[in-house]
Amino acid sequence: MTAKPTPRSIPRHISRRQRPQAPGPQHNITPTQAGADVAAIIRVDHAGEYGAVRIYEGQLAVMRARAGTSPAVKVIAHMAEQEQQHLNAFDALINERRVRPTALAPLWHVAGFALGAASAMLGEKSAMACTAAVEDVIDGHYAKQIATLDHDPALKKTIADFRADEIAHRNEALSHGAEKAPAYRLFSGAVKAGCHLAIRLSERL
Ligand SMILES: [Fe+2]
Ligand SMILES: [Fe+2]
Repeated sequence: MTAKPTPRSIPRHISRRQRPQAPGPQHNITPTQAGADVAAIIRVDHAGEYGAVRIYEGQLAVMRARAGTSPAVKVIAHMAEQEQQHLNAFDALINERRVRPTALAPLWHVAGFALGAASAMLGEKSAMACTAAVEDVIDGHYAKQIATLDHDPALKKTIADFRADEIAHRNEALSHGAEKAPAYRLFSGAVKAGCHLAIRLSERL
């Protein structure tokens, strides 16, 4: 049995300090890779904010037809305004950074509205449960992105600001009875699973 050869590409006389360091997590990122990552981040966030706008439009369409202007409608309408601002910001980023938008926009157009409308048809608490579930996923999603964006402080700040809004939306939905919706855990789990799938698809497609 022969011993495995141990390659020694760095001569012994070079001190440890002079030797090239093993690439750490940050050293692995090449400019091209970072650019691709930022493009994926902008693409998926643009898609997500678009989906959020459509969810709230679906909810408001049903809730306004049913209840006119209940307190819940005002809460949802305020969230919808903020989602529109988030979407506008990502619209601008898509143009400025020349990022290809997701090819799935037509799907999110329909699926977002349908989810919003269906949740509102189940009742105001179900609409709030939908919001709490969606915003909970987005909170975690944005937190993960923020942790990778030290090389892009402007984008990092934008996402951090929006994350604060999404957390506020989740908390507001919880304070408006989200957890009292019928079959809350089942419904919340299904919405969250759908959001995770939408995120994975929109990063790539
Ligand atoms: Fe948003
Ligand atoms: Fe939100």
